[in-house]
Amino acid sequence: MANQDPIRVGVLYSETGVTSTIGLSQLQGALLAIREINDSGGIDGRELVPVRYDAQSNPARYAELAEQLIVQDRVNVIFGCYMSSSRKAVIPVIEKWNKLLFYPTLYEGFEYSGNVIYTGAAPNQNSVQLAEFMTANFGARVYLIGSDYIYPYESNRIMGELVLQRPGSEKLGECYLPLDATEKDYGVIMEDIRNKRPDFIFSTVVGDSTAALYRAYADAGFEPRSMPIASLTTSEAEISQMGRGVATGHYTAAPYFQSIDSEANRHCLSRLRQHFGEDSVPNLCWEASYFQTHIFANAFRQAGSDGIAELMPHILGSEFDAPQGRVKIDSTNHHTCLYPRIGRVDAEGQFTIVRQATRPVYPDPYLVTHSLGDWTAKLETLES
Ligand code: ACM
Repeated sequence: MANQDPIRVGVLYSETGVTSTIGLSQLQGALLAIREINDSGGIDGRELVPVRYDAQSNPARYAELAEQLIVQDRVNVIFGCYMSSSRKAVIPVIEKWNKLLFYPTLYEGFEYSGNVIYTGAAPNQNSVQLAEFMTANFGARVYLIGSDYIYPYESNRIMGELVLQRPGSEKLGECYLPLDATEKDYGVIMEDIRNKRPDFIFSTVVGDSTAALYRAYADAGFEPRSMPIASLTTSEAEISQMGRGVATGHYTAAPYFQSIDSEANRHCLSRLRQHFGEDSVPNLCWEASYFQTHIFANAFRQAGSDGIAELMPHILGSEFDAPQGRVKIDSTNHHTCLYPRIGRVDAEGQFTIVRQATRPVYPDPYLVTHSLGDWTAKLETLES
């Protein structure tokens, strides 16, 4: 008789703590995909069972729970992590036991692990396009603000280097605040910005304090039409924490926005709402968490196992019709071919897509071949 044993997978996101709004959405992405997989007969009749822990937005807790998932719960595959500090804490555990991590978050690049599949954007799929767009439309004098950990340091370094390719460019400020920084803390930076008058602000702030940054900007009376905030991490999830209209007019680059006008996206969103209610805030990391779980299940069907050696050949090169479009896992660097998009926040907290790639862009996590003008993209007119 065929094996009917359930297949357990680790689901390790932050359900509490400073990144829990986006973490809960990632959890819902994984659980929605698992539900769809089980509703259509599981993996060859075997039920997929999530073993789920709350890593509390704490990198050390991520590492402990990854060890627990592998050693006690005996899972071979973990879906998880948001902050790069948590991924960096989990990778040594995953590598020690030769297991597999699927990581559904945009990050700073410059990394490869044979034990990780990266399904969020690398810098050549978001930073390059955002730098080109912001400098072309607003100017090249930038002020960089981030949360105090590795992703913001590295992502700001990359943005600084990209912007400084433009004539007349200048880096007017660079500062890092704790993950629990308040509106008052950001208010001090707004005074520096008032004096220096950049063309745009690049934010690599993450989690709950994102709302504090955008509120401090609004309270300072600044005008997004002339000096917007541009970001890779301000998604629908963070905007939902801000209060109506606070983020209107600011920009984010991401492969996925809730507002993508396609049948595939609308159907996926309606299934999400059906299972998780109207309070869900789908975003780029929700979408990556969703599609990577399906990519795993499809690979398992072909491999007949979730051991990394059996699974990996069926993951690498595999494709999936995701809500953003058809994505593909690159077989040499384990990152994903994705569709760069730039959105401007509207009054409802949704994104008007002002520019988007017409073809997926290959991941180049080490930024070997980047230049500011090289995305295959469709230019929409900017409403002024
Ligand atoms: C991140 O820390 N990769 C957002």
